[in-house]
Amino acid sequence: TFVHSSGAPMYMETSSAPTNIATIKYWGKADAKWNTPINDSVSVTLNQDDLKAVTTVAASSSFEKDRLWLNGEEEEGAAANKRFRACIDGVRALATAKKDADGKVLVTKEGWSRMKIHVSSYNTFPTAAGLASSAAGYAALVAALTLLFGAKEEFPGQLTTIARQGSGSACRSLDGGFVAWRKGGEKADWSDSLAEQVANEKHWPEIRAVIMVVSDAKKDTSSTAGMSTSVETSLLLKHRAETVVSKRMETIEKAFLAKDFETFGQLTMADSNQFHATCMDTYPPIFYMNDISNSIIRIIHAYNKWAGKIRAAYTFDAGPNAVLFTLDEYAVEVGALMLHYYPEFGENYVNNPDFGMKIKAFDLDDGLLEATAKTGREPKSGEVKMMYYTSSGPGPQRLTDTILNLDTTTGLNTY
Ligand code: DP6
Repeated sequence: TFVHSSGAPMYMETSSAPTNIATIKYWGKADAKWNTPINDSVSVTLNQDDLKAVTTVAASSSFEKDRLWLNGEEEEGAAANKRFRACIDGVRALATAKKDADGKVLVTKEGWSRMKIHVSSYNTFPTAAGLASSAAGYAALVAALTLLFGAKEEFPGQLTTIARQGSGSACRSLDGGFVAWRKGGEKADWSDSLAEQVANEKHWPEIRAVIMVVSDAKKDTSSTAGMSTSVETSLLLKHRAETVVSKRMETIEKAFLAKDFETFGQLTMADSNQFHATCMDTYPPIFYMNDISNSIIRIIHAYNKWAGKIRAAYTFDAGPNAVLFTLDEYAVEVGALMLHYYPEFGENYVNNPDFGMKIKAFDLDDGLLEATAKTGREPKSGEVKMMYYTSSGPGPQRLTDTILNLDTTTGLNTY
């Protein structure tokens, strides 16, 4: 407990949360109000050592209104924002009384409703990199609010149903490893549209991700707007949701549990391609990938063909960045291959210096270079801004005393 300069107590908690990359994609809403999907999806949670959102939340009766700071900038009117509200009100509805060490009640369950909330959140990766930040951000918000309010779930996965109302993909960031979002729809209040862990991050520790941050000048169509047009106009999306995804979910979950990279990689690539095909089938069409993205696809296929098996699998979200899943034993080769065709550009091109050194020193096979050169790609720097190397990791973490984004006497942003 901190004391606000006005004399009133101020309660504060900080949580970090990971981002996640879907291998079977969520695209299309069944219910816009509850933010539920037309099909199941599943994703790999990335390691917070490399990418994370860090969110501090504070509650005090001395605050005048709910306020939100994102990467140091205040979001005006956040208090009325539907997604932000759904998270605060949703977690607060599950609040419990706060007691001190002697069991004396400091705040009753109802008492939390008489306080306003301040939130400050930042990403440890450049927002400009275009790496999905809403999933990590809303997951960190829900995780921090859960600590603040001492919130207790009434059923497993209930907190993921709240994070889902912040951003759909955020529900999959409340757990580590491999996490599925079950679309639900049997219950009128959509309480069955929730995320559940398929396997934790220790199950398949060899999984690696190499993220190619592709330069892109133009502003993408937001996921929310894009999927709404797709639902209205794409017959392929309808077909995908009705007949394709459920079988793929079953197969990829089994593949992950069996550590079968061949099946996992093949389905990951096929599903990314189908998602982008539904974007093309949307009228007017939406283009998230660009020529650089397409060249990466060609190189990965040539690589796998040369290897005689799947060593790397690409997937693309609502933007041109490529996420390449691979295994520990091939990660340096994959990184070296990417560095060959998309050479270093500026400082800190690779987030991880050790990986950066290894991929520079790696001697790529002549046959591999010959096979991939046939794609027509010629080495050229500047088209990829950054390369991130990471692994899979755990869900949200509570942070104590080290990092607080809000001042402990004023409750105002410090980040
Ligand atoms: C292509 O979760 O960002 O990344 O629910 O409208 O906030 P909203 O959408 P969002 O969409 C993510 C779409 C995707 C695929 C995925 O992550 O499953």
